[in-house]
Amino acid sequence: MSESEKWPPIYLFDEVVSTNDLALAAPSKQAVHGACWAADYQTKGRGRREVGGGRRVWFSPRGANLYLSVLLRPELDPSRASGLTLATAAGVCGLLREECGVDVWVKWPNDLLVGTRKLGGILSEAVSGPKGLESVVVGLGINVNLAAEQIPEELSGIMTSLRVESGRDFDRFGLLQAIRKRVLEYSARYTRGGYASILDELREYDRTKGREVSVLRDGSWVEAISRGISDDGGLRVEVGGVTQDMHAGEVRFSMQGADK
Ligand code: BTN
Repeated sequence: MSESEKWPPIYLFDEVVSTNDLALAAPSKQAVHGACWAADYQTKGRGRREVGGGRRVWFSPRGANLYLSVLLRPELDPSRASGLTLATAAGVCGLLREECGVDVWVKWPNDLLVGTRKLGGILSEAVSGPKGLESVVVGLGINVNLAAEQIPEELSGIMTSLRVESGRDFDRFGLLQAIRKRVLEYSARYTRGGYASILDELREYDRTKGREVSVLRDGSWVEAISRGISDDGGLRVEVGGVTQDMHAGEVRFSMQGADK
């Protein structure tokens, strides 16, 4: 979209259950490509599905972070929708590095990290109908001005924020606009050019490559070495000397791999 064109609306809320829920339930008049729902506080922000089926609740305190959902209507086969999460990760990781000067990394497939601490997460939810993919809601939670003292004890050591990393506060609305713009740019890029169009950046920002990780196999965690992002957006891992590509599932740093 050129600068002179009108941007789709951003709907701002003080308190919501989940911005993804709002975007998914939006009436058709509001649900235009690029529309964005953002809130200062979520009572039940949704995280990624856990192995076993449950959902993590996304820690969403008031007045500090960004919780937003961008509605996309890309012309994509439903089988390609999951790539929008990686496209968003690449675009937003680069943006936060450039705009905030923080050394942000991607942990496949949906985490934004500083070191091994979580700075943000992406939850994409696709809606398909008889004619194929109707829309994809890309939800992002980014810890922005959260102070170290606001991080609950059970999350300290595994969560961080732009403020904790840089020692300064950021203009959340400015960042919200820039992130929405990035999501649109990178989703358009991926829709046109597929994984090839985002791979260089993803590989540059990939935090796992060459590190010792654990991957979930048949319900138990198995030690592996990450060999980085595969050409089709999976994660290549070496388990017991055998290299395989993962296209779904969970990866975590193993104790030895964590801070190296
Ligand atoms: C993850 O588990 O890492 C993904 C977290 C995604 C959280 C964001 S916050 C805004 C949007 N609304 C939600 O309910 N979830 C996403």
